Amino acid sequence: MKAVVIREFGNADGLEVVDLPVPVPAPGQVRIATEAIGVGGVDAVIRRGTLAQYGFREGHLLGSEVAGSVTALGEGVDASWMGRRVWAFTGLAGGYAEQAVASVEDVLPLPDGLTGADAVTLGGSGVVAHFALDRARFAPGETVLVRGAAGSIGITVVQLAARGGAGAVAVTTSSAERGARLRDLGATHVLDRSGEGGSDAPSGFDVVIDVVAGPQLSLFLDRLNSNGRYVAVGVAGGRPSADFGMRLMDAFRRSLSFATFSADTVPGPDRQAVRSSQFVDAAHGELRTVTHEVLPLDQAVLAHREMDAGKVFGRVVLTP
Ligand SMILES: NC(=O)c1ccc[n+]([C@@H]2O[C@H](COP(=O)([O-])OP(=O)(O)OC[C@H]3O[C@@H](n4cnc5c(N)ncnc54)[C@H](OP(=O)(O)O)[C@@H]3O)[C@@H](O)[C@H]2O)c1
Repeated sequence: MKAVVIREFGNADGLEVVDLPVPVPAPGQVRIATEAIGVGGVDAVIRRGTLAQYGFREGHLLGSEVAGSVTALGEGVDASWMGRRVWAFTGLAGGYAEQAVASVEDVLPLPDGLTGADAVTLGGSGVVAHFALDRARFAPGETVLVRGAAGSIGITVVQLAARGGAGAVAVTTSSAERGARLRDLGATHVLDRSGEGGSDAPSGFDVVIDVVAGPQLSLFLDRLNSNGRYVAVGVAGGRPSADFGMRLMDAFRRSLSFATFSADTVPGPDRQAVRSSQFVDAAHGELRTVTHEVLPLDQAVLAHREMDAGKVFGRVVLTP
């Protein structure tokens, strides 16, 4: 089968299309003939070699989420899965291929009306968006700032906050065109990457959901209202400056909270329940998925170049 591996850590040109044996599902796994493959920010991080200390090596087959049809079952898997159209989390490996394997606990049937591209755009990121707002104890009427809203996580946070009755949903983004698209999805105020602009935006926020982190994180801590909650869900902009915790301590009398959040800490069945409900909402048009573009699997290099260049709004999807 055709697959895309990291020939050499570094830029996108280090990816290579290769022929690999079709994987055999282990006990408890299914094999899926892929029709859509999600390309995520974490794939680029692995490709650069940044996570080599976690055991990622050159030759690694990238990809975390796919949609397609079940073509083979491992021992112990219920026969009813055979032939079903599903979404699947493949871990941090194995997705960029014509056939992928996943543990059956990480597989979800696709509702009618949901395309494979929709599923891999929403499947991983929607759960992060949902539980990030949950961790922030977001309540109707509160003001929310979504930092790094143009990615698939932020796009869903914006919609969920708007749908949840937020008093305001401000976003940071790098262009007016993206701002307009985010307004169409429910944003009420558009700020630049430094949090400036949006003259009528609230001066403080009850909740900040941050996909970016990076050296400017402290500036956004200052934007919390008293009793405000800040949840960092990504590091698209790198690590924050080492003294950001002092900012919190200096604001002691405002009772601010800072948390990191990884969906890995949510029990699998809870993730699947939220994902399943989001898939139904997306199939009914109540939650919008934003697929930046669909490219053939053998153009994974182009997909990664576009991600690296910051050109992607939403998610890139590969098809075999
Ligand atoms: N918490 C979890 O469980 C979980 C799960 C999966 C992934 N993640 C993390 O989430 C991130 C990827 O999420 P995503 O795909 O939604 O986001 P993304 O597309 O990587 O980034 C979102 C947006 O942030 C802005 N941005 C990027 N770099 C920036 C910088 N240096 N400074 C300011 N803004 C910047 C860009 O928008 P503009 O150009 O419009 O500003 C970009 O479109 C990764 O860090 C990944 O590790 C977390």
